[in-house]
Amino acid sequence: MTEQQFIPKAYIKTVESGKVAWESPSNIALVKYWGKKKDQIPENPSISFTLNNCKTITNLTFSKKEDESDFEFEVYLDGDKKDDFKPKIDTFFKRVEVYLPFLKDYRFKIETSNTFPHSSGIASSASGMSALALCLISIEKQFSAEMTDAFFNEKASFLARLGSGSACRSIEGDLIVWGQTEAVEGSNDLFGVKYPYKVHENFKDYQDTILLVDKGEKQVSSTVGHNLMHNHPYAKNRFVQAHDNLEKLKPILESGDLKSFIALIESEALTLHAMMMTSMPYFILMKPNTLEIINKILKFREETGLHISFTLDAGANVHVLYPKNESVEILEFIKNELVAYCQNGHYICDQIGFGAQLIKN
Ligand code: PMV
Repeated sequence: MTEQQFIPKAYIKTVESGKVAWESPSNIALVKYWGKKKDQIPENPSISFTLNNCKTITNLTFSKKEDESDFEFEVYLDGDKKDDFKPKIDTFFKRVEVYLPFLKDYRFKIETSNTFPHSSGIASSASGMSALALCLISIEKQFSAEMTDAFFNEKASFLARLGSGSACRSIEGDLIVWGQTEAVEGSNDLFGVKYPYKVHENFKDYQDTILLVDKGEKQVSSTVGHNLMHNHPYAKNRFVQAHDNLEKLKPILESGDLKSFIALIESEALTLHAMMMTSMPYFILMKPNTLEIINKILKFREETGLHISFTLDAGANVHVLYPKNESVEILEFIKNELVAYCQNGHYICDQIGFGAQLIKN
């Protein structure tokens, strides 16, 4: 598997103008990606549930231009022009130009919106970058003779990764692995692949209720966060542990052992935060209410025997994960006991999803 396979041969067609649109979901990691090498290569493998409701919808309009000297694009969020998004997209275009050599031939209008509130503390980079990558590969498909669905998805994931690492896990569902590991055949550092082994019914329709504890800007950007793993005293062990956890997850996913599943994913979430607390400089990304929620979840689980669990991304919000057949009691508990700790009482009900959808070609 090399990057070379994603450099296209000469295009056989050109198109003057057009419009493509995709909606692409967010994802929540079970084994976390934290630490990267050059060119968005992960230091360790990760696995995630693709989400269903938290999505970005992107319309990409393109028209041929005369001058091929630079990228030309405009970005809109919910109809408002967003020049502050441009540097990130410019960096992305520079990174992917060699794989999408038509980028300087066209003028683009990127119109995007999210199904979740913009300032919800939910990172839109995974859904946003995957939606944009899908639009771009859809355009490339129009210039090319043939492109199999498998190659389309691989290249979409490969491009999305160059925008934001975890975005490569948002193209398909429902469980996606990214990062080379002996534990998963076909896994690689360049793009996400569908988890290829048996998954027990217990994990079908798994629920994720996202409790919005802090809707502010991220305290630490992912880039800064990943870089903290360079020269981190515990990094080496952490990377080994991620491989081990993927190996341990296989029999758990196969047998439907919810107890072991919960222990593994909660430990992963706390390890991610432990890495941030033990880096230099150090960061505490949980808020008091994050801990209140976690403690309430542990107590409720102890008292009821229900399979409620938590995971975290690099922030204060809590993802409450649980099987669908326990959702009545657990949602009741969330509403009665946990929502009080959310900013303005806000939370989002989501569940496992199956990947991005083409809206317009
Ligand atoms: O894709 P990035 O660079 O924003 O990194 C995301 C990292 C975590 O969300 C904390 C973990 C993960 O695997 O998604």
